[in-house]
Amino acid sequence: MTSKIIDFAVSPIKVIDFSHLNLIGIEKYCLMKNQKQSVTRSNQNGFQSGNVDLSEKVLRNLINNLIIETHKLCDELQLKKPAKVSNMWVNINNYGNSNANHLHPNCLFSGVFYPSQSYPKDCGNIKFQHPSHDIMGYDWDKQQTNFNKYNSLTYQLSPKPGCAVIFPGWLVHRVEPNLNKNFLRVSMSFNIINSTREK
Ligand SMILES: [Fe+2]
Repeated sequence: MTSKIIDFAVSPIKVIDFSHLNLIGIEKYCLMKNQKQSVTRSNQNGFQSGNVDLSEKVLRNLINNLIIETHKLCDELQLKKPAKVSNMWVNINNYGNSNANHLHPNCLFSGVFYPSQSYPKDCGNIKFQHPSHDIMGYDWDKQQTNFNKYNSLTYQLSPKPGCAVIFPGWLVHRVEPNLNKNFLRVSMSFNIINSTREK
């Protein structure tokens, strides 16, 4: 007799190391945006810029690399190409600031890039929620003997310098509060769409 488990409902999250890029330049660009007025989206007291100008020279290599990696991801997941970055914005979370649960509708993928040279442990992880989090929690929460991709209700990643995280726009996520009084948590978020998709 044979038996097997089939992976049906999985949420792919890709982490890519872009630390070879001009991190100092990108971080400086982000901090300059901090002087402008914040918009209010998922941010809870933190700063969030409006959409930045994607033709900015300092962002060119980042955007090109994001597209290359997204195309690889499309191939791995067997999704249609080509993809393009549709918009990008800056997030700056000071002490106590966080981002509430949200998703990014009408996108193929969304993601975040961390341009700073270091991120302290307590500056706030990004936390993803299982697509069936609420209903699954009733029956499976506290039943896990060990956490794995089948039984975890959430999955969290700490920000890593020069790394980008790409995930499906439909995956609910949040950013935990920055609990470091001496650190500005800087990141750039972005959306990726299929550039040939019909509305
Ligand atoms: Fe987000």
